[in-house]
Amino acid sequence: MPIERIPLGGQNAFGPTYHAAAKTLHWLTAVAVLGLLGVGLWMTGLQVSLLKLQVYNWHKWIGVAVLVLTALRLLWRWRNPPPPLPDAVARWERALAPAGHRALLLLLLAMPLSGWLMSSAAGISVIWFGMLPLPDLVSRDTALFEALRTAHFWLSRALIVVVVLHVAAVFHHDVIRHDGIFRRMWLTRRA
Ligand code: HEM
Repeated sequence: MPIERIPLGGQNAFGPTYHAAAKTLHWLTAVAVLGLLGVGLWMTGLQVSLLKLQVYNWHKWIGVAVLVLTALRLLWRWRNPPPPLPDAVARWERALAPAGHRALLLLLLAMPLSGWLMSSAAGISVIWFGMLPLPDLVSRDTALFEALRTAHFWLSRALIVVVVLHVAAVFHHDVIRHDGIFRRMWLTRRA
């Protein structure tokens, strides 16, 4: 007989909340991605220098960390479903929310993978945090490098759009509707 999965998490004044593990993965990813987008937009304009080299390395290392965090999140979600949405959430929002979350997760895989592939195609291996050499995903290929660079650029623009929509939706729920959606993911229990 199949075992029904019960969401693992806490409770606040609005209803069930995400589990501490899901919250930790979410907020670590959020901070890393916002940093990567900001630094990514800035670093490409830097003059060739030691600073540029170091910033590129940190961008790559944190980017690969996002890949690991996203893989862990997918594993977590697979074993632990998110808490059900409160009754106050409209039907169209129930239908749209999973599509938005899937788009985010897909981009959080595609962004670091395109970056890692790009680095490999450029002939520059990634040594994670200067300690763990990662395998090259493809061999050196200038045309492929240019294609992946363009892909990384456009994926980052798509990610910016989806992140802005995500934050706007959260803002709408928390500030206008007061329906507790944001508090389900927030780190403290304050209602
Ligand atoms: C979630 C993860 C990531 C995000 C959000 C992100 C974001 C960005 C952004 C916004 C840019 C600037 C694009 C532009 O305006 O030209 C960029 C550039 C770049 N990223 Fe990432 N990135 C991520 C992961 C990675 C990874 C894992 C690597 C490599 C292992 C990487 C390597 C690069 C490189 C080499 C550039 C510079 C490309 C150039 O010089 O034109 N990125 N990234």
